[in-house]
Amino acid sequence: MAKLRDTISRTFAEFLILPGRTSHRTAIDSVSVRSRITDKTEIPLPLLSAAMQSVTGHELAIELAKQGGLGVLPGSLPVHEQADMVKKVKRYRSGFVCNAMTVSPHDRISQLLELEGHHGYSTFPVVENGKLVGLITEKRYHPEKDASLEVRQKMIPLSRLITGHDGITLDEANDKVIESGIGALPIIDRGGNLKSVVFYKDLKEHITYPNAFVDGEKRLRVAAAVSTHPEDIARAEALVKEGVDFLVLDSSDLYSDFAQDAIESYKRFRKPLIAGNIVHTDAFEFLANLGVDCVKIGQGSGSICTTRRVKATGRGQATAVMQIAKARDSFFSKTDKYVPICSDGGIGSTGDMAVAFALGADLIMMGKYFAGFTESPQPLMERPFKVIANGTDGISYVNAFVKPYWGEASARAKNIRRYGHKDSRSFVVEGVEGFVLHKGSMSTQLPNDVFALKGSMSTVGRKTLREFYENARLEVQTTSSHMEGGTSVIK
Ligand code: IMP
Repeated sequence: MAKLRDTISRTFAEFLILPGRTSHRTAIDSVSVRSRITDKTEIPLPLLSAAMQSVTGHELAIELAKQGGLGVLPGSLPVHEQADMVKKVKRYRSGFVCNAMTVSPHDRISQLLELEGHHGYSTFPVVENGKLVGLITEKRYHPEKDASLEVRQKMIPLSRLITGHDGITLDEANDKVIESGIGALPIIDRGGNLKSVVFYKDLKEHITYPNAFVDGEKRLRVAAAVSTHPEDIARAEALVKEGVDFLVLDSSDLYSDFAQDAIESYKRFRKPLIAGNIVHTDAFEFLANLGVDCVKIGQGSGSICTTRRVKATGRGQATAVMQIAKARDSFFSKTDKYVPICSDGGIGSTGDMAVAFALGADLIMMGKYFAGFTESPQPLMERPFKVIANGTDGISYVNAFVKPYWGEASARAKNIRRYGHKDSRSFVVEGVEGFVLHKGSMSTQLPNDVFALKGSMSTVGRKTLREFYENARLEVQTTSSHMEGGTSVIK
């Protein structure tokens, strides 16, 4: 006989956080949102972008990591495209760029211009047989008059170049970049071989983005999704080769035998493994016992998701987070291993983010929220939308700037590997396709939203996310209380 549980599937919007006393210690500027993404790794901003083609590309992953969060590149992309995006993020910024693009002294300036146009770089070390012989920047030549000249005729030769020795510290190298006045410092070994380059633009960014989520070499971090299908081992190999930092084993339902086999296989890559999705405590323990480093929670909560209508499976996101947070804490007291939990889907406002953290999430993954930013991979469009005219009973149309947003289980995507299908003919559609309003650039909007989250913590009188979770007092609200929290004037 089917069992009816006495828990209720609740969503974030059903909760209100009661204010506490704000102290000097918990004034908004003193509050920190640092969290953990694995037992050993901290993340400055615990926000992850969804592994969806309409959400995360390399540009969004770069901007998000600069601000301290983490982009998850979708596993529904062809392997070479996903790996190429990992490469772009890892190359974007670095203290020591070990794989900087170089040119030969005998290349033509016209070839240099092509490289510039294609890759966007404007400074190149000049190398012959592995040895540094000079450096060329766009300020040294005229793009038309000098096009047929060879690079050696326009480069700064090694004899007049400031270089760093292999083994120099990043701080010393940064001082030398400024001393050189040309924005780049080639690092060479005793034999004169080029080992790496330190760029001024990176130094500037380290200052502008002090909270960036970076690896030991100061390169931005990035994650990429793989599935339980055995063919994705080759995908993981390609991602790891390009330097991916986290593998995300991404399935709509990871409480399965396939998960067990896949987790064992992915261990060989020695990369932290984030795994999901699941919605109850048995499934959390199953994944934690298999040794995953972070567990992702959510079934049916996504803004584009129809799973609960199509299959009647899933769980209210707030209840799932609340229950699994307790399981995480007891797993920690039993094993001394902290397996952070990431709440995936169902965030409709910054208030929802605050509730998710207050209920125990260590991290939040969002799709719709990120899809509306300029940095998301889809094109910006202007479209007419039907609206009920204010104060009248008519319908009118307004033009709005939007970006396309669709589910990975929509008819458009049919991501067979995430949804455990053999082929697309028998695919059960569990998602829709639509648009989200364009919100402008993440570089200006995200810091503002983080401030709102810090505001909730400060109002409760808590300085860290852990304190917030352990001390926040919440109440379930009625639908009319929720409505009261909205606005009721004619706009
Ligand atoms: P959102 O932040 O509410 O838009 O939810 C994003 C999350 O929805 C993703 O991270 C996925 O876990 C989930 N998701 C993505 N595509 C689909 C779909 O087509 N159907 C159901 N869930 C989806």
